[in-house]
Amino acid sequence: LPSNNLKWLSNLSSLKYLSLEGVDLSNTGVSLVIAFNKFPSLLELHLPACQIKSLPISLGNVNFTSLLILDMSYNDLKFPLPEWFFHLTSLRKLDLSGNFLGGPVPREFQSLKSLEALDLSFNDLSGRIPKIFGNFCNLKTLNLANNQFEGGIQELLGGFSSCPNSELESLDLSSNNLKSQLPASVGMLHNLKYLNLYNNDMSGSIPKSLGQLSELVHLDLSFNSWEGFLTEAHFTNLTRLKYFSLGKVFPRPTLPIPLIFNVSYEWVPPFKLHKINIGNCKVGPAFGAWLQSQTELVFVKLDTTGISDSIPEDWFLKLSSQVEYLDLSSNQIHGKLPLQLKLPNALLLDLGHNQFDGPIPLWSGDNVVRFKLETNSFSGTIPLNFDQKFPKLEFLYLAENHLHGTIPPSICNMKHLYTLSLRNNNLSGEFPKALSLLPDIMVVDVAYNSLSGNLPSSMGDSGSLFMLKMNNNNFEGEIPFSLQTCTSLRNIDLGNNRFTGEIPPWIGSTAFLVSTLILRSNFLSGHIPQQLCNLGYLHILDLAHNSFSGTIPKCLNNLTSLRIFNNSFYILYLAYDQQTSVMRGRELQLNTSLAYVKSIDLSSNRFQGEIPQEICSLVLLNSLNLSMNQFSGNIPSKIGKLSQLDTLDLSLNHLSGQIPQSLSSLTFLSNLNLSYNNLSGEIPLGNQLQALPDSSIYEGNPFLCGFPLSTKCSEDGNSTPKDPKDNDNEDGNEKFWFYVSMALGFIVGFWSVFGTLIVKKSWRYAYFRWFDNIKDKATLFLRRLVCQE
Ligand SMILES: *[C@@H]1O[C@H](CO)[C@@H](O)[C@H](O)[C@H]1NC(C)=O
Ligand SMILES: *[C@@H]1O[C@H](CO)[C@@H](O)[C@H](O)[C@H]1NC(C)=O
Ligand SMILES: *[C@@H]1O[C@H](CO)[C@@H](O)[C@H](O)[C@H]1NC(C)=O
Ligand SMILES: *[C@@H]1O[C@H](CO)[C@@H](O)[C@H](O)[C@H]1NC(C)=O
Ligand SMILES: *[C@@H]1O[C@H](CO)[C@@H](O)[C@H](O)[C@H]1NC(C)=O
Ligand SMILES: *[C@@H]1O[C@H](CO)[C@@H](O)[C@H](O)[C@H]1NC(C)=O
Repeated sequence: LPSNNLKWLSNLSSLKYLSLEGVDLSNTGVSLVIAFNKFPSLLELHLPACQIKSLPISLGNVNFTSLLILDMSYNDLKFPLPEWFFHLTSLRKLDLSGNFLGGPVPREFQSLKSLEALDLSFNDLSGRIPKIFGNFCNLKTLNLANNQFEGGIQELLGGFSSCPNSELESLDLSSNNLKSQLPASVGMLHNLKYLNLYNNDMSGSIPKSLGQLSELVHLDLSFNSWEGFLTEAHFTNLTRLKYFSLGKVFPRPTLPIPLIFNVSYEWVPPFKLHKINIGNCKVGPAFGAWLQSQTELVFVKLDTTGISDSIPEDWFLKLSSQVEYLDLSSNQIHGKLPLQLKLPNALLLDLGHNQFDGPIPLWSGDNVVRFKLETNSFSGTIPLNFDQKFPKLEFLYLAENHLHGTIPPSICNMKHLYTLSLRNNNLSGEFPKALSLLPDIMVVDVAYNSLSGNLPSSMGDSGSLFMLKMNNNNFEGEIPFSLQTCTSLRNIDLGNNRFTGEIPPWIGSTAFLVSTLILRSNFLSGHIPQQLCNLGYLHILDLAHNSFSGTIPKCLNNLTSLRIFNNSFYILYLAYDQQTSVMRGRELQLNTSLAYVKSIDLSSNRFQGEIPQEICSLVLLNSLNLSMNQFSGNIPSKIGKLSQLDTLDLSLNHLSGQIPQSLSSLTFLSNLNLSYNNLSGEIPLGNQLQALPDSSIYEGNPFLCGFPLSTKCSEDGNSTPKDPKDNDNEDGNEKFWFYVSMALGFIVGFWSVFGTLIVKKSWRYAYFRWFDNIKDKATLFLRRLVCQE
């Protein structure tokens, strides 16, 4: 619609209803509103998403005071609003959501007392929620979501409940910074149907009066820091409740016990929910009658609830026809699942991280995208006809169970599969040939099984592979050349197998995004190819325990990621790491800090020649292990430049000459081993080296002297030998530095991610919401990133 000529409008003087939704009024906006001045009978005006930046300051004689409904949502309005705006005293509905209204709500709003619906969501409003809103006794709907409001809601609710007859039906305060408790006066809002406090900072116990809200249909209390108990009284009259969400209750450091459901096993609630979302909140140990009675559920998310019961088969059967989302992950639920189940509407089935046993259930669902049974005690074989049961499956997680037998080739008929995670089972036989042809497969994780034979020569033909984890199996033969088509490969772990041959040169020429390359403990040989130096994202290179020979290429200083901090990389690593390790306290911390490890391990090979000085430019390196090789010559003199190094193992080589003085400047160094070389001269003095008093790290170097060795240096070393300290002290010192380095590792690895999440609330929620929603979509997210690259 051409917006530059709306003059024709002004002739429609009897107009009662006008909507110009989505018309670009960025130029005409002001004059248009002036034109409305001529519509005395206008009742409804809808101008959402019209790119209006401001309103005229003066309208002279305002004459659309009869206006009942004004929708100016998703424009670019800012405060202050002109005075005439607040003379629209007949307004029943006002929608200013999605603008740029910032700061406190102006007092003038109090003149809009007749409002029945007010929507100010998705703005930048701050300060306390004005108590004047509580005096809007006609208000049925109040939406203040996604602002920066802080403080409590005592006054607001107090206002509403002192109205002679509060009409309030819908109250949305989600995604603000509200603190304080939920006041008991909430129970007076007896018409309330919808209450959303999602994503605030509210704490304290949830008042029992909530149970009086007999009209309540939708209750969302997730992402707050509630504590205390929820009892039957909290639900007494909630007969209409359909949606109940209490996901992710954040424990506070001072009060680490999250909210606890204290209802009796026999209690049957008055409601039949359609959606239940409870997370990180103690519901168990029993899967009580109240949960069993919920048989109309469409959306079920009960993760980390401490349920350690079995679930009646009946419940699954009753849910099966309608359920779309079923997540019971991270509990201790045991027992068997119904063997057969048709789930025509289901999209996601996540029963991971429980104690289910028995065979893998033969469930089926034409729409199921994710099927997750990882970390349970399922046994038996992988069903042969998964492809027919779940024709649209994208994510299959059967990792960490007790499955045996082979990987059925029929899995390859699942053309949509992105992620196949079978790690840590007892699977044997060969890797199915056709699997390598899956068009979309991105993540293959079959590590820690007993698979054997050669990898199919067509492996990776489709080129979509992103992560290939086949470590700790019995695979043999050469690393297939076909993988060279996988230009997106980032993570290759083929360690602890029987692979032979050389490092394929495509690693670094076609697959140059590789960030983790683990080939340790195989029978590989040959030189490190020059192409390896093209891996600008490489942060873990582990070639240990093979028969590699030759020298370390000097071009190693081209490994940019070990030299220059690259933030985007970490996000990437986190994303795919989370696929295999669900958030389980410490484990996540470990995995997260793993994302930061930058290491090179060439130990136990036949490398020789000098350690190139270029290695000293990899200043972000945390760990360097060149032990058990035939390196000769001096330790590079600039080794002190590797300031992040905490592990340096050069033991069992033929290194000679003095230990460079710069070594003593490595303040994080906590694991040093220079034993069994032919180093000579005085061990350098320096804070950190002094703190490594274990003399065994220098042993087998007959010409070394000085602390902590008992060999004193001779006069020409012009230094006075140190008194060896007593043993207790040494132990204490060692432990001290061990803990310091642990702590540093923890701080660097853990807090640089989670620290910011805790400090910056908006990030925190963004992260956890992202985590919640995208946990499994991570590969899609990664795919997008890869495409961008
Ligand atoms: C304002 O509206 C009234 C009727 O509601 C009408 O009589 C009057 O002329 C209008 N004034 C202007 C300035 O349009
Ligand atoms: C939990 O409920 C039981 C009975 O239902 C009651 O005896 C007990 O006091 C309750 N505990 C708390 C802390 O409310
Ligand atoms: C290393 O990088 C330089 C420039 O950054 C480039 O000219 C050279 O070819 C690279 N060498 C290898 C072996 O990748
Ligand atoms: C270095 O590698 C060797 C051989 O793989 C291993 O025994 C040693 O423990 C490693 N050193 C460190 C400090 O991890
Ligand atoms: C240092 O390396 C040698 C040889 O590999 C080993 O025997 C010794 O235990 C290591 N010392 C420490 C403290 O790790
Ligand atoms: C070890 O170094 C000393 C000099 O520091 C040298 O005399 C000796 O030959 C070296 N031994 C070996 C086996 O290289």
